[in-house]
Amino acid sequence: MFLGIDLGTSSLKAVVIDEGHQVRATAEAPLDVSHPKTHWSEQDPVHWEQALLSVCADLSGQIQLQQIERIGLTGQMHGATCLDAKGKILRPCILWNDGRSGNECQILNGMGAEFIAYAGNLAMPGFTAPKLMWIKQHEPETYQKIQHVLLPKDYLRFVLTNEFYTDPSDASGTLWMNPQTRQWDDALIDVTGANRKWLPKVLEGPEETAVVSLDASRKYGLPRVPVVAGGGDNACGALALGISTPGQTFISLGTSGVFFTVSESHQACPEKTVHAFAHALPDTWHQMTVTLSAAHSLNWLSSITGQSVADMVNRVSVSNKTETDVQFLPYLNGERSPHNDPDARGVFLNLSSATTVDDLCLAVMEGVTFSFCDGLSALRDAGATIRSTLSIGGGTRSKYWLQMMANALEITVETSDSSIIGPSLGAARLAMTDQNTAYPNEQITDCLSPVQARGDYFQSKLTNYRQAYLALRQMRG
Ligand code: XUL
Repeated sequence: MFLGIDLGTSSLKAVVIDEGHQVRATAEAPLDVSHPKTHWSEQDPVHWEQALLSVCADLSGQIQLQQIERIGLTGQMHGATCLDAKGKILRPCILWNDGRSGNECQILNGMGAEFIAYAGNLAMPGFTAPKLMWIKQHEPETYQKIQHVLLPKDYLRFVLTNEFYTDPSDASGTLWMNPQTRQWDDALIDVTGANRKWLPKVLEGPEETAVVSLDASRKYGLPRVPVVAGGGDNACGALALGISTPGQTFISLGTSGVFFTVSESHQACPEKTVHAFAHALPDTWHQMTVTLSAAHSLNWLSSITGQSVADMVNRVSVSNKTETDVQFLPYLNGERSPHNDPDARGVFLNLSSATTVDDLCLAVMEGVTFSFCDGLSALRDAGATIRSTLSIGGGTRSKYWLQMMANALEITVETSDSSIIGPSLGAARLAMTDQNTAYPNEQITDCLSPVQARGDYFQSKLTNYRQAYLALRQMRG
């Protein structure tokens, strides 16, 4: 059996599959994010370890953990986990949706074409390198002590094996890797003022890194088996859906919103904020656009209304409410695609005394949908041909939302058996790849085609959505 562990933002999830790709056990433990200041988004890695412990205990009630043959890791990308020479955590991890390093990104992007050509990507505040530049400037005492910088899933690997490794798909999001060569790049390390000694060794997603240590085996109840390199959560989400050949596409409706398509090679398009990264299988690449607050926007609405997301979304879909005057911009944590603007903010427009929570909920779902429309047009500008898309993530539980996506994007949106399990399944598959490279064909469970009659409504609201952002940015000066 093969264990896949996904260190997500709102929870740590695990799945165990057998040689026939059948799911034998699943477990999940929640995680919180702290926002101590505007722009800041952090997690304490100790909470990741606690979540791992609880998930392993849960799995051990479902299967015999000793039957696990190999482990695959995936997780939220870009996070900067800084350790000292003894492997001690120096500060909370600065997450992928943290916007504090806007100035550092401006410096990097201002270095001109050469920097962007090596990185294949624009510097955006969620990425790892600018965060280390920020720590150097604002927390020099911490900076001095840094000996290791690990992405979140690679910190879990360190906890499990005491070894430092990463993989090209996750490392692409640091800005220290040239995604084309799939190796650390000295020029990028130099211009960002980083230290090559901080960085873990790079192995391809299905390759074995290190074996679970005796201590970790005792603590977590896991056998002393190899941990494969794994991949970033979006790359592993793709593998969960069987997406690895050029043109295959999916949208991820999780805390973040991602439009992901496999490319023929490394195809950069930084001017459209397209992320051009290595995929989690050797010699494969992908492009994606990223919305920082997708399902997170609904969670935020739930937290301020006191109504659960499920209740709000159910009410809107059962009443078949299809239109609202209210417009929402989902920039609660700034935005990457298409604006690369950490200072953008969430907005409700057109509120009246008649506005209800249902209007707000519908407007939030629409606003997130429009951010995917922006993602699709950026990917098309970057040369991608996208006529339909699979989908993954908690948001796919709402058929109503997926139908809205199909209508606004004007492409078919599909779900499969793996849509809800998510990236942990891709990581488990990487753990078994040596033995069986053929992934099973996905069983499509739903196929939602665009309803043409809805086109005008969405087109006019999308135009307003785009104009509202531009007008508000102008007001900021
Ligand atoms: C991708 C990104 C997010 C996180 C969320 O660039 O920042 O999708 O990986 O888990």
